[in-house]
Amino acid sequence: MEEEKKIVQVKFSPVQADRILAGQNVLITGGGGGIGSAMARKFTSVGASVILVDNKPEKMEKVKAELTGYPVFTMTYDVTDTKDMPELFADAEKISGKEVTILCANAGISLHEHGITEVTREKFDLQIAVNLRAPFFLTKAFLERYEKNARGRKILITTSEAADEGFDRPYGMTKAGLNNMIKAISHRVYEKGMRINGIAPGVTITDMTRDNISSTEQNLAYEGVAGRVMVPEEIAEVACFLISDASTCISGEIIHCNASAHVRSYYKA
Ligand SMILES: NC(=O)c1ccc[n+]([C@@H]2O[C@H](COP(=O)([O-])OP(=O)(O)OC[C@H]3O[C@@H](n4cnc5c(N)ncnc54)[C@H](O)[C@@H]3O)[C@@H](O)[C@H]2O)c1
Repeated sequence: MEEEKKIVQVKFSPVQADRILAGQNVLITGGGGGIGSAMARKFTSVGASVILVDNKPEKMEKVKAELTGYPVFTMTYDVTDTKDMPELFADAEKISGKEVTILCANAGISLHEHGITEVTREKFDLQIAVNLRAPFFLTKAFLERYEKNARGRKILITTSEAADEGFDRPYGMTKAGLNNMIKAISHRVYEKGMRINGIAPGVTITDMTRDNISSTEQNLAYEGVAGRVMVPEEIAEVACFLISDASTCISGEIIHCNASAHVRSYYKA
C-alpha cells in the first residue's frame, strides 16, 4: 500500500502596510494604559477594531475620545476575576458585533519591591493574579472559544525584560511564567492555525514607571545599555507586526523591545 503523503502549502501574499489589520477585532487588556492605548492607536490606524478592557473606565474613555471616528469599544473588567473569563469573550462579541480575532493580554502591574524582604503575601498574590493568572486564563478561554475555528487568530502577551533580570521580584517571576507559557503552547496553537508570541518591553515611559524614573517625555535619557527609556508607540509597532500577517512564520517567540539591553555585552563593539 502506498503511504499517504502529507501535503503542506502556504498561500502567501505580501502585506499591504496601511491596512495590515483590516477586518481584525482585537481585544486589549490594560487598554487604558500607556502601552495598551498606544496599541489601540496603532491597530485602529491600520484597519482593526479594538475592544479595550481595563478596570479603570476613565482611562479607557480618554482613549476612546481621542480615537473618535474609529471602531473602539470598552469593557470595564477586572482581569483578576478569573471565573468570568469565558463570559468576557461572549460579552466582547456582543459589544463589538464580531468575534474576537486577536487577544492582546497586556494588563499588568508592578509594585516595585526592591528586594525579597519587601514582598508581602498580599502584594505577591496580587501581582501573580494580574500578571500571570489572568493572561493564562484569558488564553485558555480564548482557545476554548475559538480553537475549533482557529485559522488566522493570534495571541500576543506583554511580558517584560524583567523576566530575565535580577530586579523587581515577584514582578519578573510573573513575566518569566508568561514566557514559559508562550513557548509551551505554541506548537499546539500553531497546529490549529493560530499563533502566540510575546513582547518584552524594556523600561517604557508609562504610568507604571513614571514615578520611579527620572526620564520624561521631554528627556528620555536613562542609565542602561540603550541610554534611554522606550516610548509606548515603538512597542505598539512591534506588537502590530506580531499580530499581523507580516509575521506568519513567527510563533512561540518573545521579542525584546529594549534596544538590546538583554544581550549583556560588556563592550560596545
Ligand atoms: N512600562 C514599562 O516599563 C514596562 C516594561 C515591561 C513590561 N511592561 C508591561 O506592559 C504592560 C502594560 O503596562 P504599561 O506600562 O502600559 O502600564 P500602565 O500602568 O500604563 O497600564 C496598565 C493598565 O492595566 C490596567 N490594569 C491593572 N490592573 C488591572 C486589572 N486587575 N484588571 C484590568 N486592568 C488592569 C491599568 O488600569 C492600566 O490601564 C504590563 O503588562 C507591564 O507589565 C511595562
